Amino acid sequence: IKRITTHTLQEMKRKGEKIACLTSYDYSMAKIVDSAGVELILVGDSASNVMAGHETTLPITLDNMIYHAQAVVKGVKRALVVVDLPFGSYQGNSEEALRSAIRIMKESGGHAVKLEGGIEIKESIERILSAGIPVMGHLGLTPQSIYKFGTYVVRAKEEEEAEQLMANAKMLNDVGCFGMVLEKIPAALAKKVTESVAIPTIGIGAGNGCDGQILVVHDMLGINKDFSPRFLRRYADLHTIMTEAVMNYTKDVKSSDFPNEKESY
Ligand code: KIV
Ligand code: NA
Repeated sequence: IKRITTHTLQEMKRKGEKIACLTSYDYSMAKIVDSAGVELILVGDSASNVMAGHETTLPITLDNMIYHAQAVVKGVKRALVVVDLPFGSYQGNSEEALRSAIRIMKESGGHAVKLEGGIEIKESIERILSAGIPVMGHLGLTPQSIYKFGTYVVRAKEEEEAEQLMANAKMLNDVGCFGMVLEKIPAALAKKVTESVAIPTIGIGAGNGCDGQILVVHDMLGINKDFSPRFLRRYADLHTIMTEAVMNYTKDVKSSDFPNEKESY
C-alpha cells in the first residue's frame, strides 16, 4: 500500500480530487477507517468529548492525546495521521509549542500536527515547521476558544471576521502549512478561501466548495445520538445496532441461552 503524504493531498487539490477525512481515537476504529479508504485520519481533541465525556475540548491533556495517537498510528497503514495539539500545549509561547509538537511526533509516531488559530500563533507554527514537522491550520469555529465565542454558532458571517479569516488563511498558506480545517463558516466564504490558497482546505460545516471534508467518526456512524448539527450526515445508526446487541446479550445471559454447548469447552 502506498502511504498518503502531505504531498499527496496537495497533488489531489491540484487535480481537483476531493479529500476524505475522519477522526479516530483508538486502534480498532482507526483500522476500519483506514482500510475503508479515507486519505487523512485526525486524532482530534474531540476525544475530550467523544472518548472522555467532557463538555468541551479544553480538559484533554497532551499525554491523553499522545495515548490516543499511539493507538491510532498502530491501526493505520495508508492514511496520513494528523494529531491535534490540545488546549494549553501551544498557546503559551513558540518554544512550548515546538516542545509539544516534538513530543507528539516522537512518542506517538503521528505524521503531522494541527493547531487552532491564525496570526496569534504564527510564530509557533513557523517554529514547528522549521523543525520539519508538517502543520495543519484550523480556522473558523475553533472549539478551544469556545469560552471566547460563548456559542457554537456559525463564525465569520460578518464582513470583519470574514476578512480576518481570509487573511489568516493566506498566512497559513504562506508560512508553509500543508492544509487547513475550515469549521462552521458560510459555504461562500469557504469557497473563496479555497480558491485563494494553494493548500487543501478541509471543511466541516463549511459547504461543498472545500477541497475535502471531515466529520467526527462517532457522529457520522450514529453512535452519538445527542449531537445533530445541520452539517452532520449520519451514514449508520450504530446507536440502535449496538443497543439492540447489548440488550440481546443481556437477555441471553439471563435466560441461560448463552453460552450454549458449542460455545463451551
Ligand atoms: O477535534 C476534531 O475532531 C476536529 C475536527 C472536527 C476538525 O478538530
Ligand atoms: Na480539534
